[in-house]
Amino acid sequence: MDELEKIITERRSIRSFKDTPVPRELIDKIINAGLFAASGRGLQVPKIIAVTNKELRDAVSDENRRIGGWNEGFDPFYGAPVILIVVADSTVPTAVYDGSLTMGNMMLMAHDLGLGSIWIHRAKEEFDSEFGKNLLRKAGIEGDFEGIAHLAVGYTKGDYPAVIPRNDGRVFYLD
Ligand SMILES: Cc1cc2nc3c(=O)[nH]c(=O)nc-3n(C[C@H](O)[C@H](O)[C@H](O)COP(=O)(O)O)c2cc1C
Repeated sequence: MDELEKIITERRSIRSFKDTPVPRELIDKIINAGLFAASGRGLQVPKIIAVTNKELRDAVSDENRRIGGWNEGFDPFYGAPVILIVVADSTVPTAVYDGSLTMGNMMLMAHDLGLGSIWIHRAKEEFDSEFGKNLLRKAGIEGDFEGIAHLAVGYTKGDYPAVIPRNDGRVFYLD
């Protein structure tokens, strides 16, 4: 198996993280992988907000928990110390596709760097609300931005999950 194939086939979503901080250099590499994703018409509309400050990270987690309807005390980011939030210009028709590809690139890079990651949803609701708009203002992002997803990143705690076999019947060759 070549290296890229191994990274793609062995990446798993991680749901338990150590609170060990992630070096900035590694966070930057993950972000860079996201920035290099293809985008519709090459417009590069996705933007990435990196949340590493513990207080802010906990506030984003709590908002996500609230949107998801979980009880207080549940951390939908599973203890990950870094949250990379992808937002994209909602006036661009490919915004969601572009942002999703950004997420995919970042997940693979995180895995390649020996870090765990997981896509955490509910960014749409977060950025439709005043909470998300405040985050945009804090980051200095102006315009109509839609929340695409959060990537929770950190060092995996516990065993690495086994690879799940792919379902049959998903590929159709029309030779
Ligand atoms: C669009 C999307 C939304 C997801 N949202 C969440 C989420 O909010 N919380 C969560 O724990 N996992 C979430 N996941 C992770 C999926 O549950 C996970 O990718 C799936 O179970 C397959 O596992 P794998 O990533 O290890 O292959 C999401 C994944 C995707 C692609």
